[in-house]
Amino acid sequence: MSKLLTGLKPTGEFTLGNYIGAIVPLVKLQDDYDEVFLFVADLHALTVYQDPKELRARIRKFIAMYIACGVDPKKTTIYLQSENPYIPAISWLLECTTQFGEASRMIQFKEKSKQNANFSVGLLTYPILMAADILYCDTNDVPVGIDQKQHVELARDVAERFNHKYGETFVLPQPYIAKEGTKIKDLKDPTKKMSKSEENPQGVITMFDTREVITKKIMRATTDSEMDVHFDEDKKPGISNLLNIASALSGQKIAEIEQQFVGKNYGELKQYVAEIVATKLEAIQARYETLLNGKELDAILDQGIQKSIQLAKAKYEQMKEKMGVVR
Ligand code: AMP
Ligand code: TRP
Repeated sequence: MSKLLTGLKPTGEFTLGNYIGAIVPLVKLQDDYDEVFLFVADLHALTVYQDPKELRARIRKFIAMYIACGVDPKKTTIYLQSENPYIPAISWLLECTTQFGEASRMIQFKEKSKQNANFSVGLLTYPILMAADILYCDTNDVPVGIDQKQHVELARDVAERFNHKYGETFVLPQPYIAKEGTKIKDLKDPTKKMSKSEENPQGVITMFDTREVITKKIMRATTDSEMDVHFDEDKKPGISNLLNIASALSGQKIAEIEQQFVGKNYGELKQYVAEIVATKLEAIQARYETLLNGKELDAILDQGIQKSIQLAKAKYEQMKEKMGVVR
């Protein structure tokens, strides 16, 4: 049986770039595995101080957005990490199976501990909590960004050591690094990645923009002085970006869209792309609002955490038994 699990730190932005580059690929993966787990790594957010009120609001919005974008509770077990008390318990047992040297060699730890002299112990044990997240449910594949690959490899090493010392207990997980997807570019400067940190918000579409704002931003997108709609990222980065956006959201091939716009002008293409983006985001926003304001989100999380706890409890007891911490 194939299992996939990933954790999302409740930080980061929701731009059209994040949606097309990160969320859509994750949503597609749901259909490739027998079981999928997706959780908000809220405990991992605490290694640096977070304003409690803001964090709380962010966690809820975060999970609502992922579900609104297509993470399907029928296919995926969705939960909050902090609601499963067996995860930190498993983490402790794994801490005692992890070497200090091994943990302190993690690149993220080395970099972040350099930035702040008063770093928390949590910064060091962060990847071990992550190993607990991964190992409790016997997952095979763990989709992560390249910066987290080393942590998944640590989880694998720790699992291997535990299996060796105490007997077969864990499935060995592996990092799943998605191949480079489509990068969505800034509408005003299509040589740069679309990113919330840009000074000019006109180049960035957020998941919360209204139809009016979306249309305005796309109609004013930077293009080139030619007349023909065709894909050429070097010579026509603006037009290519619009084609990428339309193709990613509609499922149409770029060539089909090019064909559709033979003899038509850029204004018509922009209108077309704006319509696709606005229609897509309006649907997502409607679902998002319903989730945030209704009871469904809690029902989804209640169901997800139940399954997660059941699996983690079994794994914890198995580990305790093997390690001899039983009466
Ligand atoms: P960030 O918000 O920059 O931390 O990125 C979170 C995820 O979204 C990463 O997987 C990025 O690769 C992806 N992402 C962010 N911006 C874009 C973009 N403009 N185009 C494609 N993917 C993006
Ligand atoms: N550390 C990951 C990040 O910063 C989030 C995370 C926590 C995670 N636990 C995980 C990812 C388990 C994959 C599996 O993005």
